[in-house]
Amino acid sequence: MLFAVRDIAGGYGAIHIVKNISFDLDAGETLAVLGRNGMGKTTLLRTLVGLADRFAGEVKVDGEPLPARNPRPFARLGITYVPDDRGVFPRLTVAENIRLARLSAYAQTEVDVDALFPELKWRARQPAGTLSGGQQQQLAIARALATGPRLLIVDELSQGLQPSIVEALAEALIAVTRHNRLALILVDQNPKLAMRICDRVMVMQRGEVVAAGPSATLGADERFLDLLIV
Ligand SMILES: Nc1ncnc2c1ncn2[C@@H]1O[C@H](COP(=O)(O)OP(=O)(O)OP(=O)(O)O)[C@@H](O)[C@H]1O
Ligand SMILES: [Mg+2]
Repeated sequence: MLFAVRDIAGGYGAIHIVKNISFDLDAGETLAVLGRNGMGKTTLLRTLVGLADRFAGEVKVDGEPLPARNPRPFARLGITYVPDDRGVFPRLTVAENIRLARLSAYAQTEVDVDALFPELKWRARQPAGTLSGGQQQQLAIARALATGPRLLIVDELSQGLQPSIVEALAEALIAVTRHNRLALILVDQNPKLAMRICDRVMVMQRGEVVAAGPSATLGADERFLDLLIV
């Protein structure tokens, strides 16, 4: 199993925010994490990649348990995380941002980011800080893919972006997960979008998973959609 999560609890210092979370993800599998604001989605992702405290449970990569609160092994293991603020270097150009990401390449998968995001190719010499929000999100995903990951974790793909660019990002993620057997964990506020990109979904409420299953089944279930109404 590429990525196995067993009964984890996580948070910050003495503050416990997520608990009892378990799931498996194999190569090419895609999982959407949904839930209203403040339900613990970001904290879950941060706990998974060692950026928040893990109080209980196990995270295993290829069957090997990882230490809690240590983000360092993840790049080497082919796991890459795009935070909700996107995390690009604003003063560096688009090309420099991507080149830096390649330095930490795991190089399991070779993704042609120029073909995936032609807009970035034209803007190679532009400082990342001068890009639109949508272009910055493209760059954040391009940087993540340039590390040659096996598992991509994205927090808030579409937040604040125009529909046309969201569509381009969605198509890129669908293409790259299928063609490269890339696993994906995606958090997004738009359930329809997240369930279109991902085969499976889980819904969080107050730090716990309250519903989980195939997108095709849950997307048609009104009780499930009620859990997401703000
Ligand atoms: N660094 C922190 N220290 C303490 N509490 C935090 C910290 N970050 C988040 N929290 C709290 O943890 C809870 C879950 O927040 P989290 O950001 O994980 O939710 P979320 O589902 O990602 O929300 P959103 O939809 O707004 O992104 C909230 O009550 C929040 O106030
Ligand atoms: Mg969040």
